Amino acid sequence: MASIPTFGIALLIPILLWSSVFAYQNSGPKIFNVRDYGARANGHSDDSKNELNVFNFSLPCQWGFGESKVLVPRGRYMLNSVTFMGPCLGRITFRIEGSLRGPTSPSQFLNIDTWIGFQFIDGLTLEGGSHGTGGGVLDGQGPSAWKYNTCNRTSSCPVLPVNLRLDFITNSTVQNIISIDSKNTHIHLFACQRLHINHIRLTAPEGSPNTDGIKIGNSTDVKILGAKIETGDDCIAMVFGSKDIDINQVQCGPGHGISIGSLGRQSTDQHVQGITVSNTNFTGTQNGVRIKTWSPSSPSLASDIVFQYIRMENVNNPIFIDQQYCPYCGFQDDGSRSQVQINNVTYRNIQGTSSSKVAVSLQCSEVVPCRNVKLEDINLRYNGVGGPATASCSHVHGTASGEQLPSGCL
Ligand SMILES: *[C@@H]1O[C@H](CO)[C@@H](O)[C@H](O)[C@H]1NC(C)=O
Ligand SMILES: *[C@@H]1O[C@H](CO)[C@@H](O)[C@H](O)[C@H]1NC(C)=O
Ligand SMILES: *[C@@H]1O[C@H](CO)[C@@H](O)[C@H](O)[C@H]1NC(C)=O
Ligand SMILES: *[C@@H]1O[C@H](CO)[C@@H](O)[C@H](O)[C@H]1NC(C)=O
Ligand SMILES: *[C@@H]1O[C@H](CO)[C@@H](O)[C@H](O)[C@H]1NC(C)=O
Ligand SMILES: *[C@@H]1O[C@H](CO)[C@@H](O)[C@H](O)[C@H]1NC(C)=O
Repeated sequence: MASIPTFGIALLIPILLWSSVFAYQNSGPKIFNVRDYGARANGHSDDSKNELNVFNFSLPCQWGFGESKVLVPRGRYMLNSVTFMGPCLGRITFRIEGSLRGPTSPSQFLNIDTWIGFQFIDGLTLEGGSHGTGGGVLDGQGPSAWKYNTCNRTSSCPVLPVNLRLDFITNSTVQNIISIDSKNTHIHLFACQRLHINHIRLTAPEGSPNTDGIKIGNSTDVKILGAKIETGDDCIAMVFGSKDIDINQVQCGPGHGISIGSLGRQSTDQHVQGITVSNTNFTGTQNGVRIKTWSPSSPSLASDIVFQYIRMENVNNPIFIDQQYCPYCGFQDDGSRSQVQINNVTYRNIQGTSSSKVAVSLQCSEVVPCRNVKLEDINLRYNGVGGPATASCSHVHGTASGEQLPSGCL
C-alpha cells in the first residue's frame, strides 16, 4: 500500500508547481508596453520621432484588476511635455528602461512648467532600468533652454520646465532614475506624502541656471536615500511646508549645497519641521548646509533640524544660517527683519575644509533670535592662506560641545 501515497505525492508536486506558476502569473502586474499602445520607437536614427506623448495613461491607470505596470523598453524616445494624472484604481509602476529626451523647440518649452509630471497618484513606483543598463534616463536637453533664463536680470523671465514634477503623490517610490540637463529643477515635489527616493543621479553643469537637484514643498515624510547630485543650483532645497524629511547618503557638488528655504516669502508660510540630513558629502559647493530666510519676511517657523556626519571639501559656506536673504535688495536696509523663528538646530560631526575663512556663519534675526542651536564636534579648516578658519554668529542662543574648530560662536 506504500506505493499509493508515493504515487500521490509524485502527481501532486507537478500540479502544485504548475498551479503556483499560474497563480504567480495571474497575480503579477498587468503590463502596458508603451510600444504596444501608441509610442513609436525607431532607435535607428537620431532624428527619429519616437514619441511617448501619444501613450494613453488612462488605460493602465484605470486597470481595475490589481497592479499595472507601464513599461518603456530600451530605446530613445522624444517626449514633449506630459502629465500622467491619477487617481488610479490600483498601484501602478512606471518603468523606464530607455532614455527620454525633452523638446528643444522653444514653442514646446517656453512658459511650460513641467516636462514629465505625475499627479494625484497613490502607490506609484517610478523606476529606471535594472542596474548597469543605462536606462531610466530623463534628458531635459537643457542647453537648448538655459539661454532663455533671464531671471537674474529681469522679473519677467519665462518659466522653464522642471524635468520631473510630482504633485500629490502618496505612498510611492522613485528609484534608479538618472536626470540629465534639466531646463529648470530636476525633481520637484509638491504636496507629496510618504515618498521614498532611492539611488538617483542628477547631473547638470555647474553654471546652469536654476537647476536645483530636488526641490521639496508642502510635503511630509519624504526619505531620500543614496543620491549623487551635480548641478548648477541647490543640491536639495526644502521650502515652506516641508515636514519629516530624511536625507541620507547624498553626494553633492558642484552646486549650491543643501538648503532649507528661502522661507518667509509667502504670507501663508507653512512651517518647516523635522529635517534630518546625515552621511552626506559636499565637494566644491557654494554652501554646505544652509538655512535662509527672507528679510523682511512674514512670520514663520523652522524647527527640529539635524545636520550630522557630514564631510565638506572645499566648500565656501560650510555651516550657514542667513536670515538676511534678499538678493535683489542691493545695499538698501529699511530696518525690517526676518520674522522666521529658527529653533532646535543641531550640527553634529561636521568635518573638512572651507574655501572661505568664515567656516561657521550663523546670522540670525535680531527680532527672533535662533534658539537651541547645538554645535557638536565641528572640525572645519580653511584651505586658503591668511590664518585659520573663523566663526561668526549673531543673535544665536545655544550650546557647543566636543571639538570646536573654529570656535567662539556659542
Ligand atoms: C484613452 O483611453 C480611454 C479608455 O479607452 C478613452 O476613453 C480615452 O478617450 C483615451 N484618450 C485619448 C486621448 O486617446
Ligand atoms: C545671469 O546669469 C548668466 C548665466 O546664466 C550670467 O552669464 C550673467 O552674467 C548673469 N547676469 C547677472 C546680471 O548676474
Ligand atoms: C498610504 O498608506 C497609508 C498607510 O498604509 C494609508 O493609511 C493611506 O490611506 C495611504 N494613502 C494615502 C493617500 O495616504
Ligand atoms: C499642501 O498639501 C496638502 C496635502 O498634503 C493639500 O491638502 C494642500 O492643499 C496643499 N497646500 C496647498 C497650498 O496647495
Ligand atoms: C563620503 O565620503 C566618505 C569618505 O570619502 C565615503 O566613505 C562615503 O562613502 C561618502 N559618502 C557618500 C554618500 O558619497
Ligand atoms: C525644541 O525641542 C524641545 C526639546 O527637544 C521641544 O520641547 C520643543 O517643542 C522644540 N521646539 C519646537 C519649536 O519644536
